[in-house]
Amino acid sequence: MPVRPLTTNPSGLFAALASLDDESARERLAALVPELIRHNRLYHETDAAEIDDRTYDMLYRELELLESRFPEHIRDDSPTRRVGGAPVSHLEPFAHRVPMLSLSNAFSDDELRDFDTRVKRFLGDDAPEDVAYVVEPKLDGLAAELVYEEGALVGAGTRGDGLVGEDVLHNVVTIRDIPRTLAGDTSGFPSRLSVRGEIFYPLAGFAAMNQRRVAEGSKAFENPRNAAAGTVRQLDPAVAAQRPLTFFAHSFGEAEGVEPAPTHWEQLERIAQWGLPANPLNRRANGIEEVIRLIEELGGNRHDLAYEIDGAVVKVDDVDKQATLGAVTRSPRWAIAFKFPPPQVTTTLQHVGFQVGRTGAITPVAHLEPARVGGVTVSRATLHNQDQLVLLDIRIGDQVVIERAGDVIPRVVRAVPDDGHDARPKPVFPEACPECATPLLKDPEQAVIRCPNQLSCPAQLRAAVRHFASRRAMDIDGLGAKLVDQLVDRGMVKRVSDLFTLTRSQLTNLERMGGKSADNLLQALDVSKERPLNRCLTALGIPEVGESTARDLANHFRDIDALMAASTEELVAVHGIGEVVAEHVVKYFADGRFRAELARLRQLGVQFPALPPLPEASDDAEDAAPLLTGKTFVITGTLPTLDRAEAKSRILAVGGKVTGSVSSKTDFLVAGEKAGSKLSKAQELGVAVIDEAGLLALLTPPTP
Ligand code: IVH
Repeated sequence: MPVRPLTTNPSGLFAALASLDDESARERLAALVPELIRHNRLYHETDAAEIDDRTYDMLYRELELLESRFPEHIRDDSPTRRVGGAPVSHLEPFAHRVPMLSLSNAFSDDELRDFDTRVKRFLGDDAPEDVAYVVEPKLDGLAAELVYEEGALVGAGTRGDGLVGEDVLHNVVTIRDIPRTLAGDTSGFPSRLSVRGEIFYPLAGFAAMNQRRVAEGSKAFENPRNAAAGTVRQLDPAVAAQRPLTFFAHSFGEAEGVEPAPTHWEQLERIAQWGLPANPLNRRANGIEEVIRLIEELGGNRHDLAYEIDGAVVKVDDVDKQATLGAVTRSPRWAIAFKFPPPQVTTTLQHVGFQVGRTGAITPVAHLEPARVGGVTVSRATLHNQDQLVLLDIRIGDQVVIERAGDVIPRVVRAVPDDGHDARPKPVFPEACPECATPLLKDPEQAVIRCPNQLSCPAQLRAAVRHFASRRAMDIDGLGAKLVDQLVDRGMVKRVSDLFTLTRSQLTNLERMGGKSADNLLQALDVSKERPLNRCLTALGIPEVGESTARDLANHFRDIDALMAASTEELVAVHGIGEVVAEHVVKYFADGRFRAELARLRQLGVQFPALPPLPEASDDAEDAAPLLTGKTFVITGTLPTLDRAEAKSRILAVGGKVTGSVSSKTDFLVAGEKAGSKLSKAQELGVAVIDEAGLLALLTPPTP
């Protein structure tokens, strides 16, 4: 629904905004920002502006006023903040009604034959001698789902975790190969169609774009896949519109209101008639031996293609048989991805550098004469660790073979033997940390050599502070990598807790930091002190404790002191926690330096808030499905332990739906802290309002 200005009279605007509360302001911003972006795009890229300039100006003015009154709600994607095409970090979630699965892999012809045997075994008596397959090039791009209703493109999302991705419709509409309306006879369109496919960069367009970026002083993209993902996940559709992104459809979610085609091949043909392109190199094959021949042929031609492929996807063609075969957790039994061996190239080793990671691990890195491998230019490659360095016995000046597998960091495979090798200098592993000169230690159980100066080695500190501030941890708005580097390099932050002692005058002394940004940062730091326990735990950066382990720990122990007191045995008893994690946790909390740092964080106001007792979430949510199938939920406010994406995926996982606004069709409003207008609306409409505990109880099947 189009967003209208609050008033037509600029001087009335201030009064109209004066009575707005916090939540309404946030909601209004959430409506205004995408709408202004949309109008911008309509204005700049099409001849179809929907509003006149004055209305646009009124909306923009309102945005500015709102942002000055509620600076804490300024969105990253706001047009007032945008510098060129800054990437968005907060795209809206996009739920897939049918999960977007992934594929299992085969790396050899025999593994393909095993796949064929499994397919036949599963089909039992229905298995033909030669199963009909479709072989498709496996494109290295960004998977996306397009949703058409009555022939019109109404939604587009990235794959995400398969259940919930990110809404990227604003950029997808700029891709020329993706029709906004399906072609052909409207009467034959499904009422709802979701098509999945790959958005990717042709190599030529990628190279040209990178050249342009470098000329403009921007950083080149690593590979076409990252470039495609980066572009599609941008906020500013003008950026995507300038880039030659392409799309091939390769799979399906829903098709309501049409007879399903009997084969995958015919499905592809049908959507091609509607204007959705599939790869012209797709082939049909009878039996696995023909599949193997086709894949070999494709592999032989892969470097002549206009885009990068990393393998082939083999699919059972018969749609009924696909249904019989079904899926295991993450991937269908009726399809498999064959991965080509990774491309290699030979180049010269110029020298070996040593990098310090967040946990202090020292990684030797080969600096190479730049060489093209599999479509991208490589000038660095990892040498993993000291053992590997010794094993490879590479010398400075050697010719070395480099391999690049997909988005994995390129690695050095071996040195090419030659007469000069023995006389060339060996790279020397340092004895002291290249960043802080602390003597290095060898981890007795692992091949890793570490800098033990965990708290104040600048390299580790920079990484720890970045991690602490990151979105999934304390989510400190405005504390990006560049700023962290400045704070650490100038000695203003010598340990993470120093963040909370920063003053306005210290901050305004920094490069590119005005009074307003300093105030915003101080406010963001303040707000972060109230982050829920699970995020605080993620933020500490305990080895092996990522987002989901932190959540498991928070849910189980419910308060930081209980967690700190837990023994290895108690930890291992927690669902999802293994021995390695348990040992890291115990070791971390036993270390006086970390305990002191934690105490200081708490003293400076970081709350590590304890959680109230809750019913345990169910492991087997499917049992609850009959209860929730088709029920519509809206989530609002901040929930105590679940973040919104998690709550959403749990609801989707049991067959519920999640929408953005409350209406008479809403079955439940899940309300957290600071729920505002949605809550009043739900109360008005008599919609059931539940809290997180209520939601978890609903998701938990009744005990028999
Ligand atoms: S079919 C249930 N076909 O590869 C079937 N996927 O490794 C799901 N991909 O997530 C996908 N080319 O993004 C399919 N011709 C193709 C593909 C393809 C590339 C990607 C896709 C998927 C990933 C799985």
